Formats: sequence, structure tokens, C-alpha cells
Amino acid sequence: MTDENIGQVQNKKIILSGIQPTGTITLGNYLGAVRNWQIMQEDFNSIFFIADLHALTVKREPAELRQCANSFFAQLLACGINPEKAILYFQSHVHQHAELQWILNCYTYVGEASRMTQFKDKSAKHSDNINMGLMDYPVLMAADVLLFQSDLVPVGIDQKQHLELTRDLAIRFNNRYGDTFKVPEPYIPTMGAKVCSLQDPTAKMSKSDPDENSRVSIIDDEATIVRRFKRAVTDSGNEICVREDKPGVSNLINIYAAIENKSAQDVEREFAGQGYGTFKIAVGEAVAAKFAPIREEYLRYLADKSYIAEVAKAGAEKAAYLAERTLRKVKKKVGLISF
Ligand code: TYM
Repeated sequence: MTDENIGQVQNKKIILSGIQPTGTITLGNYLGAVRNWQIMQEDFNSIFFIADLHALTVKREPAELRQCANSFFAQLLACGINPEKAILYFQSHVHQHAELQWILNCYTYVGEASRMTQFKDKSAKHSDNINMGLMDYPVLMAADVLLFQSDLVPVGIDQKQHLELTRDLAIRFNNRYGDTFKVPEPYIPTMGAKVCSLQDPTAKMSKSDPDENSRVSIIDDEATIVRRFKRAVTDSGNEICVREDKPGVSNLINIYAAIENKSAQDVEREFAGQGYGTFKIAVGEAVAAKFAPIREEYLRYLADKSYIAEVAKAGAEKAAYLAERTLRKVKKKVGLISF
């Protein structure tokens, strides 16, 4: 294997990102991350994966997890992640992720891991299952990113803190052992970095929210999408504008703007004088129109299990080749024997 024959172009910067297979890909995941992956794969050496090891941190039925991970793979293909342009694989197929995580664990302080907001949130939500994986989750994320010498990590704003830890670990390791890891930068979009719940616009839209009306997914049908937007919580008054005391309407404006590639001001002007009801339907229809072709492609990919297996296998081989280079260097630096 060489860099060229696995599609890595010299001098191109590297981007990497992952998504946990839970539920289905939401509008938030799409606008915050996946849409940018699809755009950025044109200009970067791109590596994307289904974070199935991360998904083990909460209790899952094995058959359901397997089905979900497979479905996520089809969803990413349907969103336009192109295996000719990007490396796409299941995280658990590349053992180097977990191996580097172990080494990085030994350079991570318990204090800094336990301070992570997502760890605290998830511990509160899953108080019957506060396992080591939950606390160690950001270290696995750091391993994911650092294994590939990534320059940029396209994510939504909720992952920023984890990437700060990633940077701290890279710098700490480099200071102790000499230049080993590239120190990555998060890439957070200006539009869609935090899409909020349709039922509680002060919280982020989440794939695991028990209230289905809080979100829409890229594979929902038009009727479902429009219905959920019609039910979206809005605010008092009737003015369609972005304002701190109007989190519901502001969220809908931001969604519409991101989907239609317009500024929030343009959207305010477009709907000036119209009621919330009309606006909610317009947002729902715009989102549904965007997702209709993705849903169609998804169903086509999902039916082709052997294609998914073929792409995932090739992706994992390429990722392992790249990952091994960093891992070998790290093992040597920390003093493990190699022949
Ligand atoms: P996950 O699976 O929760 O989300 C996948 C991506 O979607 C973004 N996102 C959002 N963006 C805007 N609005 C929202 N409401 C919203 N909800 C989610 C997330 O920021 C993310 O970019 N730990 C990661 C997966 C991961 C990863 C990595 C990411 C594992 N290893 C290495 C980057 C690099 C996660 O759980 O994302």
C-alpha cells in the first residue's frame, strides 16, 4: 500500500470526523457536521468513521447496535460521502484506535477527564451505568483524531471541549517526547453549529432524546418532517426574528437559513409580517425537500449489504495503514520494544 494508491494526495490537509451510531442522523448532525464532510471531501484528504466503540458507553442490544451502525454507514453514503474521495469505515475495524487510546490514557489526568461537560451530562442521564468508558470517551476521541495527524476536525459546537482536550494531549505528548502529533483545529460551521431541539429550543437537538418530536432525521419522510416542524415550540409574540428571548423562532430561522444557504437577516426579511404557522410549514417543507433525495439514496444503499461491506472493508484497510504509521512512532517514543 502507498499513500497515493489509497487516495491520499500529498500536500492536501487532512480532515477527520466521526459519528456515533444512535437512532438516525438528525438535522443537527447534518448541519453541524455531515454536510461539511461532504463539501470538504473535495479539497482535503478525508477520513470519516462510524464511532461504534464510542457507542458502547451506553447499554445497547447487540443486534440493534449492529443494525444501527450498518444503517449509519448507508446514511453517510446517502449524504454524499464518496468512498472514491474519502476513507469511510467502522471504528471497531481499526484496532489502532483503542491501542492509542490506552497509551494516551496514561497521559490524561482523571481530573481533566471528569471535568468534561458531556461526561457530567451523560453520567446524570445514565446514573445506573456510569462506566469507565463514559469518562474515557474523550481520550478515545483524541486517539481517533491524533492517529491520522489530522489538521481539521469538522464538528458541531458540542464537541469543542473534547477537541480542546485532544489538543492538550497532543501538546503534552509532543513536549515530553518531541514532535509526534499534529495539533488539530476544530472546524465549526458558522451556520448550524448548534441546531436546537424542536421541543426545547434551549437544548441541542439530539439523536437520543426520548421525545421524537424534538428532532427530524435525514431519512424521515416529508409528512413526518412537516408535522414535527408544525409542532415545534415557538415563543410568545408573532415577530419572526432572531432574538435572545425568542429561542424557538431563532432556532427555526437558523435552520431555514442553513438549509437555504441564506443569512438570518434574509430570512427575517422574507417572512416579515407572516405568522409563526406559515413560517413553521415553510421551514418543514424546505428541510423535507432537502432530505427527500437523501432518503431515497439511503434506501437504495441499505438494500445493498455487500456494497456496504466492500466499502467498509476497503476503508478500514486504508485507515489502518495510515494509523499504524503514527502508532508505531508513538510506541517507540514511549519506550515499547519494536523489532
Ligand atoms: P455525535 O455522534 O453526537 O454527533 C455527530 C456530529 O454531529 C454534531 N452534532 C450537532 N451539530 C449541530 N447541532 C446539533 N444539535 C448537533 N448534535 C450533534 C456533533 O458535534 C458531531 O460533530 N464524539 C462524537 C463522535 C466522534 C468524533 C470523533 C468526532 C468520535 N470520535 C473524533 C470528531 C472526531 C459524537 O458523539 O458525535
